Parts: sequence; structure tokens; C-alpha cells
Amino acid sequence: MSDRWYQKAVVYCLDIDTYADSNGDGIGDIRGLIGRLDYLARLGVTCLWLNPIHPSPDRDDGYDVADFYNVDPRFGTLGDFAELLHQADNLGIKVIIDLVVNHTSDQHPWFQSARSDPESPFREWYVWAESAPPDRHQGMVFPGEQGETWSFDRTAKLWYYHRFYKFQPDLNIKNPAVREEIKKICAFWLQLGVAGFRMDAVPFIIEETEPGHPNPPKNMEFLTELREHVQWRKGDSVLLAEANVEPEQLVGFFGDGGGSGNRIHMLFDFMLNGRLMLALARENPEAIIEALRETPKLPRGGQWATFLRNHDEVDLSRLTAEQRADVFAKFGPEPEMQLYGRGIRRRLAPMLGNDRKRLELAYALQFSLRGTPVLRYGEEIGMGDDLALEGRDAIRTPMQWSILPNAGFSTASKAELVRPVVDHGDFAYEKVNVTQQRLDRKSLLSWFERMIRTLREAPEVGAGSCTHVDVPVPPGVLVHRADDSTGTMLFVHNLGPDDGTVDLSSLYPEAESPNDVLADREYADLGKFREIEVAGYGYRWIRLRRYS
Ligand code: BGC
Repeated sequence: MSDRWYQKAVVYCLDIDTYADSNGDGIGDIRGLIGRLDYLARLGVTCLWLNPIHPSPDRDDGYDVADFYNVDPRFGTLGDFAELLHQADNLGIKVIIDLVVNHTSDQHPWFQSARSDPESPFREWYVWAESAPPDRHQGMVFPGEQGETWSFDRTAKLWYYHRFYKFQPDLNIKNPAVREEIKKICAFWLQLGVAGFRMDAVPFIIEETEPGHPNPPKNMEFLTELREHVQWRKGDSVLLAEANVEPEQLVGFFGDGGGSGNRIHMLFDFMLNGRLMLALARENPEAIIEALRETPKLPRGGQWATFLRNHDEVDLSRLTAEQRADVFAKFGPEPEMQLYGRGIRRRLAPMLGNDRKRLELAYALQFSLRGTPVLRYGEEIGMGDDLALEGRDAIRTPMQWSILPNAGFSTASKAELVRPVVDHGDFAYEKVNVTQQRLDRKSLLSWFERMIRTLREAPEVGAGSCTHVDVPVPPGVLVHRADDSTGTMLFVHNLGPDDGTVDLSSLYPEAESPNDVLADREYADLGKFREIEVAGYGYRWIRLRRYS
């Protein structure tokens, strides 16, 4: 049985500014979040991932950091943050924060000094070119919103590199002083009590960029160095990396120090995310089966982090053009729903037509696949989006707590809110909110609580193997199993609309008092596994056997 907390965690991601506002200024804050920790504990969350918390001009939702050693004063003080860590710890919730060190804000004092003084020690902290790099129109992450990756700085009279927006100059990883500073930033927050980091943009952090070389070498060794440092400072801290790269490159991020990973601990599974979306769109599990088959073997301790929606667009760039077209047609047919030519900027509930059965199916599936599940705030109540907002902001509207004005998020006037609350249509806060769902045992929120509790009793899912069970099934049905030294779980998910039966009798000899532990409805006894029923968009989580 795994003793690593991150292999058993349920991660919940939120942005402090849209979660809960305690002082009525229209912006969510740390004290507001502290007041909601009991809600998260009841939901079954064991790890909070906070989107950037640092002072920032906020031109990329905080991913443009102006001071790595403080919290945004709009959110509170470092004192409030320490209090949050203490209160979360009391409830058994770990806190990880975004570590955004590929770049800084152009307002960061380091960049200000670097651009204005050729003698500044910070000049070499960034990546410069004396003449216009020929590859400056390549490698943009936000096509349409970003025209180039090198921009001319009038003060420095030099070109500087920025993989993301122009106001996010890249740090120079080749400079040992930069690498030391990144380690110091990690050490600072670990000392305060965070449990680790969601590392932003890892493939770009380690790039040793040179003008005119669009595919520079990557310094993977820096990840080894960083891991060694954080592990020394806090033994059970984790690095959860964002690296949306080709499958054959994935394992390198975990490293392999003699079979036991020596770089990052966890990686977001972008590959599975795209395939899950495809499978849900086509109502056919083939893409998931393929993903399970192709999943590379990870070094000991390596772990996937699975998700359906994150804080960015649903990224479909690793699907084929035909597959992408199918997902767009089903989940984001209008141009205003799409982003960067590769993604969808909607929440899951609107994508699935607010269909409760399909929502349960989608999340039951995500949470039962190998790895650690990550849930974006508001998904547990089926929140919608606001396509009138720019780009990725569509899914960054305030949390809907109740039917009180501003969804109970803030007592400020509507005009002062950090972003408008969703107040019209099927997803308006009067219809979709925590307070109502908390009272209703049949609500989506109550279902999430039950599902997560059930998952916590099935450690095989987080720490064990996950394999497709190849038995004859009606179209649309996926059968998979999770095995560990603790026992075996068996999962039947029907991605299609029609009821069906599955013959699982070949597994019967392995079963020991098997029973449904979670299902979309009550089903007849499992019998000898011969005619296992599953409803259209239905699912059954079956405990096959349990040791101990
Ligand atoms: C984050 C984005 C952010 C970007 C730049 C990412 O990959 O997920 O939200 O805009 O990094 O920091």
C-alpha cells in the first residue's frame, strides 16, 4: 500500500480572487477561503492547488509575477497565508501553490533593473538579442493574442525573449544565479508550510534559449537539482508539473535515478485529457483504451494527475485534425466557444448540455482512471461559463455559493466585482449554487461528496495499476480495473446513450463477495457476473476483492 500522500490525494484547484470575498471589496481573499475550508473538507478535498497568489499586475490572471516572496495585497497578507496553512492542516488539507518561474512580469524589479541598466546584475537574468531574431514569429503559446516571442525593449535597446505574452519576459535558466533564486523561492514557501508546487510551463523553464534557434536544448538536470533541493528542505513535498509535450518526451520529466524518479513527482495528463474529451464526444471509449495502452511506464513514485477541466482552455492540439473536428462539433461548435484554434473555453456542464447523467459519467470515469484526480472549483456544482468574457476568463467567474446577491461571493456592488457572476440562463447562481445543493441529497454536489468518499476507500485507483479489461461489450462501454496490494476494483462505464449488458463471467473466479460501491442507480445483484447491466450513460464501480 502506498504511503505517499499525493497518490491518494483529491486535488482541488482555485483562484483566490474568485472564490470568496471576506472584506466586501469585490475580490476574493485568503480570509474568505479560510472560511470555506470546512466546505472543502466535507467535499473530501485533501490538497488545494492555489493559482498564483503573488503580487502581480494581473494581466495573465496572476501568471505575471512581480514579487515571488509575498502574497498579492488584494488577497491579504503573508500572515493570513500562514493562517490558511494552519487551518487547512487542521482539516487534513495540504496546500500547493503555482510556481511560475519560466518568466516574470515586466513590472518585476528584476526586469526593471535589467532593462534600464546594462551593468545591472539582473541583466543576465533575462534572455536578450541585439538584433531582431529571425525566429521571432515562431513558438507563440497564445496565437491570436500574441504576435511574436521576441520583442524590442526601447529602454534596453535590445530584443528580449518571451515564450508567453509580451509582458512576461523569460528568465534565463542558463544563469546559475537564476537557478539558485528559483530554489530559494521554493525553500521560502516550503518553510512557510506549503506541501509543494504546481510548476508552470516546465518544458519552457528548462529551455536554454538562443536567438535564431527555435528548438533549443532542454536542461533536464535542473529538474533533478530542484527535486533534490525541495526534498531536502521538506521530505514529503511534491512537484506537480505542467508539461504538455509529445508522449515520448514525458518520462524524461520524471527522471530515473535507478528506477525511482528523481525529477518531478507528478505530471498533468494532457494526453489522457484530450482522449477523454474525444471519447465523450464520440460516445466511444476507444480513445481511452488507446491512451491506457500507450501510457509509458513511470519510475517508482511517478504519478499522473488527471483532469477534465483546468483553468485554461481544453487543449485538443494533440488530437488529429479529424478527431479535433469531432470534439469541436460536439462540445464547442460556435467560434466564440473556441480558442487559439486548438481549444474550447467552456466549462464541462455546458459542454455536456447540463445533462446530469453525462456529468456523473464523465467525472466517475475521470476519478476511476489511474492517477490523482484534479477538480477545478465550481465543477462540483456544475457551474457554467460566461462567453462574453475575454479568452480564458470565460471559466473564471466567481464561485456560486448561494442565492444571495453576487451569488454570496461578495457583498460589494456588482460593478466592483473582480468578474461578473453568472446571473442568467440555466447556470445562473439562483439555479446553481452550493447552499441549495448542500440541502439536496440528490444534487450533483452530494454526488461528488459520495463519489470522493468512495474513491478514498479504493486506494488501488491512485496507487495501483490501471488496465483495460478486454471482454465483449456493447459499443460505448469501457471496462477497466485497478489492482494493488490492497485489492482490486472493477469499473464499468457506458459512454453511450443505450442500456446494455456486459458478460464479465471470466472475472468471477477472482471475486470475493463482490458488490457495487458506486453506481448511477440500483442494479440487480451481480450474480455470477454473466449479465451485468449498465444503463445508458451509466456506471458501476465494483469492489472485486479486498485484502486486509
Ligand atoms: C498556465 C496559464 C498561463 C501560462 C503563462 C500556463 O501554462 O496554465 O494559465 O497563462 O502558463 O504563465
